[in-house]
Amino acid sequence: MPRTLLRHCEESGLAALLGAYHRDSLRYAAVRAARPALGPRLRVIVDLLCLNESVPTTEAQAALGGSMEVLADAGLCRNDGSATVVPEHRLVDHYGQLLFVGPPAGQIGGYYGADSVGLGRQLLAARGNCLDLFASTGAQSLLMARGGGDVTSVELTSDLRPVAALNIAMHGLDDRVTTIWGDATTVSLPDRPFDTVCVNAPLFPNFGVDGLDTGANGGRHGHDLLQAVLPRVRLNTGGRLHSTATMVGDGDGPHTTWLADAARRNGWTFDVVVTGVGRLGEGSAFAKDLVTTLAETAGATTEDMAETLDRQWKESGVDRVFFCLLTARPAATSGVTVVSRYERGSGWWL
Ligand SMILES: C[S@@+](CC[C@H](N)C(=O)[O-])C[C@H]1O[C@@H](n2cnc3c(N)ncnc32)[C@H](O)[C@@H]1O
Repeated sequence: MPRTLLRHCEESGLAALLGAYHRDSLRYAAVRAARPALGPRLRVIVDLLCLNESVPTTEAQAALGGSMEVLADAGLCRNDGSATVVPEHRLVDHYGQLLFVGPPAGQIGGYYGADSVGLGRQLLAARGNCLDLFASTGAQSLLMARGGGDVTSVELTSDLRPVAALNIAMHGLDDRVTTIWGDATTVSLPDRPFDTVCVNAPLFPNFGVDGLDTGANGGRHGHDLLQAVLPRVRLNTGGRLHSTATMVGDGDGPHTTWLADAARRNGWTFDVVVTGVGRLGEGSAFAKDLVTTLAETAGATTEDMAETLDRQWKESGVDRVFFCLLTARPAATSGVTVVSRYERGSGWWL
């Protein structure tokens, strides 16, 4: 039973451990550092469920009993007889709820990153009819359902289906979360206004280079998928949409014309908080990573890609990428307010 797996996580101390290392559990570091001092049973559970380490099958059975079958049924574990491993998933704590996501910094197994944490914080007061677009394995859906919401969750990668189903069942939220597997820009959505909508679409700007992984590819400007779904969403009076967004811009801030158009069309007003800025151009580590990734994607040299992108950025008057959290609400006068242009805190979203 999925509920029993959650109980095992709680009574073994795993839930307390992941809760305590909330942010660091994103990147394994603190949990890995804590590992040597853990009791033997919790160490096996941590290795198996959090660190993608292979453990002796007998020890996995002793630590988790019948819950091993739950993992096997969801296709999470591989067993070669003497050893068992959960290779492509790990448990994280998302505001007090344990759920399976993919390993850090990867697109396999279900994305979960610092942006998920930043967006999740906006959803702690979610209520009513909720919509989670680009849902991955359901972190935000679970959060909204736990708060009492009825959630529709939309995700393209149907490989994630068994893991999302396990996450929902572990928390006994099957009655509250309806999953739709399809393209959020085209799939049929419930024909009703929502009280809370969250959108965490892939955010990586491709600047016209085709072929980025679907989990990362945010289109030319990074916000293309968000822009495509906004006209599909209706909010109730008092409703809120919370979203991550990547926006290109310059020294005056993010370019928001597209967002102002969406605001006008939907009858909303947007507040934009910039949580991080990446400089484009020579000498920027951010730009170097971006050029390297896009060069690999296009099969081009980094020199050629750097030259092409540099020309494009100069022509379009763009010299930085802003990482933002957006909040939208229905308003008599539509508009966009950039509330803060400055990076705050120690990461993009935290
Ligand atoms: C940044 S992750 C969001 C994860 C999760 N919502 C969160 O906040 O942690 C983006 C997700 O969008 C999915 N995706 C990409 N293109 C999509 C599309 N056109 N329609 C629906 N989902 C899509 C990816 O598979 C990925 O799981």
